[in-house]
Amino acid sequence: MATDNNRFQAIISHCKEYGFIFQSSEIYDGLSAVYDYGQWGSELKKNIRDYWWKSMTQMHENIVGIDAAIFMHPTTWKASGHVDNFSDPMIDNKDSKKRYRVDHLIEAKADELELAGKKAEADALLAEMDKLLVANDYDGLKKLIEDNKIKCAVSGTGNWTEIRQFNLMFSTQLGSVSEEASEIYLRPETAQGIFVNFLNVQKTGRMKIPFGIAQTGKAFRNEIVARQFVFRMREFEQMEMQFFVRPGTQKEWYEYWKEERMKWHLSLGIPKEKYRFHDHAKLAFYADAACDIEYNFPIGFKEVEGIHSRTDYDLSKHQEYSKKKMQYFDSEINQNYIPYVIETSIGLDRTVLMVLSEAYTEEDLSTAEKQDSRVVLKIPPKLAPIKLAVLPLVKKDGLPEIAREIMDDCKAHFRCFYEEKDTIGKRYRRMDAIGTPFCITIDKQTKEDGTVTIRYRDTMQQDRIPATQIRELVQKYIV
Ligand code: GAP
Repeated sequence: MATDNNRFQAIISHCKEYGFIFQSSEIYDGLSAVYDYGQWGSELKKNIRDYWWKSMTQMHENIVGIDAAIFMHPTTWKASGHVDNFSDPMIDNKDSKKRYRVDHLIEAKADELELAGKKAEADALLAEMDKLLVANDYDGLKKLIEDNKIKCAVSGTGNWTEIRQFNLMFSTQLGSVSEEASEIYLRPETAQGIFVNFLNVQKTGRMKIPFGIAQTGKAFRNEIVARQFVFRMREFEQMEMQFFVRPGTQKEWYEYWKEERMKWHLSLGIPKEKYRFHDHAKLAFYADAACDIEYNFPIGFKEVEGIHSRTDYDLSKHQEYSKKKMQYFDSEINQNYIPYVIETSIGLDRTVLMVLSEAYTEEDLSTAEKQDSRVVLKIPPKLAPIKLAVLPLVKKDGLPEIAREIMDDCKAHFRCFYEEKDTIGKRYRRMDAIGTPFCITIDKQTKEDGTVTIRYRDTMQQDRIPATQIRELVQKYIV
């Protein structure tokens, strides 16, 4: 079995080889921290997005979804604080000219210490970093980097600049004539599209507090540290939900959503010990409480989702800047107020990576007679790109025709894949590699008694079942 870093590299290679994720514009040598989803990656991503969407909207009567534009009026970002505050402390290496986010640089050193068995030192380093970040003590952070002899990965030197803040938003021009054009931003989070539509949705949907608005969509950040595959991208997708509550009740709703979101994560079939909560030491400029749900990736425990108690910060700011009232009349207590907000914000790409990391399995199937192995993606059937592979044993004797009938019966209900080339063993392996939970084989006996062989991906067990039961059986597993 590969070591963790090797395992991460093996997952990245697997994603490319089997059509999940490609480097963007690869033929031009790629664009750093930007990725394209291939034929199976896009299916997996869509299935995760749909699963999240259903669990938020369909399963909660008081949550509705929207789809706001990526471009927003530039004042949105002034009001939200992103123009002034959405920046990270950065440091440059004078020799390589490479720029690093200070927290990432120190975290990488802590990872190194932990890998070397120095967990206590790693924890102390992170605790000190948190303290200095909270205090915005940049001199202290630089000293911490120097004292720990943290070096640039490119130049290998510790020749650092002072620490400075850099804004992470991308900007572009709206309008064709430069004099008339105004600077607008690519949204760095989807949440603001929800805030500016708060009253539209509340009024037209006659929503009563507490209620939520959910949205999925692209977000853009000019990330300085551009590595770790789809974990940290410059163009990525978020799945966010803002839950509007009565002021004073935010603490209990924060706890409620922490629990609810953890349940969702566990419903992906990932064991509890692979997750942990991490409370934020330094709160974002809009939050009064915040934590992350972290998953134990092959590169260590890292954030997948943030849960933030955002107070009435955003709505109050939009009220101030737009001069439009953002208030809600609560008939139960006969009061007008600006609602408080609990936000759940999960990265779709990180969830894809989490599901793939959990699913990726190298199995040694060697016997005394022969060496054998397989790579199988044990993706939960409800998320798998393809649910059923339909495989006639041979390309003749009427077997393809029966297989086509089965395809016609199933393909309107779930994603199926038909293949008649190569040995059955090779076809099974290809389906294992993309995580197809069920393969059925049509053979001579099918013509005699109408049964097929069903092969289960994870156990490789094979059973004989009537062809008429296939659809129902698969459907049972994918809800
Ligand atoms: N609206 C709140 C917000 O955007 P965040 O913690 O900055 O909060 C939420 O982002 C989630 O978005 C993160 O937990 C992560 O999963 C995902 N995310 C953030 N930056 C990302 C990036 N550069 N690449 C991929 N995913 C990212």
